[in-house]
Amino acid sequence: MEQNNTYYFRRVSQEDLEGVYTLLSTGLDEVERKYFPCTIEEVQIILNSNKDYAYVITDDCPSNFLAYGHMRTFNGKYETPALGIMVSRYFRGLHLGKILCNYMLCDIYAMGYKDVMLKVNNQNRQALQLYLDLGFVMYNWDSDFICMKKKF
Ligand SMILES: CC(C)(COP(=O)(O)OP(=O)(O)OC[C@H]1O[C@@H](n2cnc3c(N)ncnc32)[C@H](O)[C@@H]1OP(=O)(O)O)[C@@H](O)C(=O)NCCC(=O)NCCS
Repeated sequence: MEQNNTYYFRRVSQEDLEGVYTLLSTGLDEVERKYFPCTIEEVQIILNSNKDYAYVITDDCPSNFLAYGHMRTFNGKYETPALGIMVSRYFRGLHLGKILCNYMLCDIYAMGYKDVMLKVNNQNRQALQLYLDLGFVMYNWDSDFICMKKKF
């Protein structure tokens, strides 16, 4: 059977609410879920803000969500947006995480932000490597988490 390798990247809109929630509910394991919006209301908070943005990757079908990312200033409370990305566990290892992160960085840069930060569990080797590859540097850490930042 022919494989479909066309992926589409876009910001999330209100119509995507259920789809994003389903992706977050089914695409992560129990530990990973702790770091992402857990309820439909939490997703809605991001979509309601005009200073926080969520992103998805779909295939040819615009409602087939393969990956999700968000950049959060918590409605403008923080000058430096915090970034988070996830790829559905069924679609990992295809570089979707790296490409989504790059796409989001371009969008955040275009909005005029000077830098972006994130917090990652220090056992999360895939994510750490992905962020290092994209030019993030570690600036703070404790026994569980590493904080990373990228300046534009
Ligand atoms: C982290 C995550 C987003 C990576 O997504 P992905 O699409 O599978 O990753 P990619 O295919 O883009 O790989 C990116 C890089 O990660 C590294 N990587 C991927 N799989 C790896 C593995 N099994 N072991 C070590 N490093 C790995 C590689 O450096 C890879 O780049 P390269 O192949 O060019 O060398 C995904 O595993 C995920 O959703 N995890 C759960 C949520 C999460 O932890 N999010 C990050 C914290 S905010």
